[in-house]
Amino acid sequence: MNQKLITLLIAILIIALGGTAIFLVSSKESKANTPSSNTQENQLNKEDKKQNETPTNDKKIAVIYFSASGTTKSVASIISQKTNAELIEIVPKEKYTSADLNWNDPNSRTSLECNEASSRPEIASTMNLDDYDVIYLGYPIWWGDVPHIILTFMDTYKLDGKTVIPFCTSGGTGISQSMNTLKNYNQKVHWTEGKRLSTSESEINNWLESLKY
Ligand SMILES: Cc1cc2nc3c(=O)[nH]c(=O)nc-3n(C[C@H](O)[C@H](O)[C@H](O)COP(=O)(O)O)c2cc1C
Repeated sequence: MNQKLITLLIAILIIALGGTAIFLVSSKESKANTPSSNTQENQLNKEDKKQNETPTNDKKIAVIYFSASGTTKSVASIISQKTNAELIEIVPKEKYTSADLNWNDPNSRTSLECNEASSRPEIASTMNLDDYDVIYLGYPIWWGDVPHIILTFMDTYKLDGKTVIPFCTSGGTGISQSMNTLKNYNQKVHWTEGKRLSTSESEINNWLESLKY
């Protein structure tokens, strides 16, 4: 091979190597600037998922309560705030006076109502519960059980198929006897085990967190 040919071959080799080097460097740079197709896919999947996720709490909730002297009302309003639910009061047509609430008097209105199985004190308020899926139902314990106005409420409003979660306040009696009364009164309701509550926010919070609504 003559000298000229060798120089030409070396020159071609240098040009070829230089081109490859430039190509490698520029393709590395472009990879660094463009998100890899995998990352892009992950991102899209995440966004897809976000859009398809159903909110955990898409049920319409109401907190319905009867309260003669305000304790159950306080608990009910805390529950409605925490659950973002409508707060609805069962208002008796005839308000209970303190004489009516005297459990030491066997002839007081409440003593007579509680002793008469068929008594159904009238309700003044009206409500439309069609749209609600879940109802928290609150009442004070009277003589170990639900006040009969709660039975009037059950007679008046069709709760079949709804989820109802009772809660009560009391001087110490638990909810179980009133739960049994309610369960037997309408077996078409999806009863969730209820709880006796105090007005303590943390107690109410803990209970609400243990439920899925
Ligand atoms: C007529 C009557 C009967 C009651 N019976 C009981 C009872 O059996 N056990 C109990 O622990 N508390 C009983 N209590 C107390 C109430 O359950 C308690 O004070 C309740 O928190 C009142 O709720 P309110 O303020 O929402 O009406 C009775 C109260 C009244 C007025």
